[in-house]
Amino acid sequence: MSAPTRFPLGRPARLAVFASGRGSNLQSLLHAFPAGHELASVVLVVSNRPDATALDRARAAGVVAVHVPWPTRADFEAAANGLLSQHGVDVVCLAGFMRLLSAGFTERWAGRLVNVHPSLLPDFPGLDAHGQAIAAGVKESGCTVHLVDAGVDSGPVILQRKVPVLPGDDAEALAGRVLAVEHEAYPAAVRLLLTGAWRHDDLGETG
Ligand code: GAR
Repeated sequence: MSAPTRFPLGRPARLAVFASGRGSNLQSLLHAFPAGHELASVVLVVSNRPDATALDRARAAGVVAVHVPWPTRADFEAAANGLLSQHGVDVVCLAGFMRLLSAGFTERWAGRLVNVHPSLLPDFPGLDAHGQAIAAGVKESGCTVHLVDAGVDSGPVILQRKVPVLPGDDAEALAGRVLAVEHEAYPAAVRLLLTGAWRHDDLGETG
């Protein structure tokens, strides 16, 4: 296995974002890391869905946006890895990317693959995090930005933001409240990672 990437890189990082749908988290990353930013720029957006609004958002920002089909996971990952190499990508951010990547892919990108999940992990991983939170009757939920490992929403946590679950909330109401904090948390977490302010010892980054 190659040596883990150490942050800071000493140059602006090149970010790719994988998104399957609406892309509001992508939008917050595009806003935080535009072309020419000293810490990082989003240089590539990939979607497994041709109709994802995320692709339109990327194109509107002047960022390369590519639909990569998912006939099989292996096909998607081979094509995505080709694009990531071609664009010299340092870090991949999953933003509403609703597919599970293989252990091979997560290992190749270990320490450089980030996700946002709409719950306070380890609670409520996987699909329908808000429905799970409402059903469990918790008083607090939020979002987690974490490194991705081979598990489902199980990698090391970079940061979390909390919101209250209010009486009468349904999944949609909670989702809106959590999404608002995701938009601040995701760029903040990427900043922590890229500046070296947050490190994970298991990746050999003992600083
Ligand atoms: C966000 O709430 C994100 O946390 C969630 O999907 C939404 C995407 O919104 N992701 C997951 O549930 C992944 N397991 P967006 O497309 O507007 O960024």
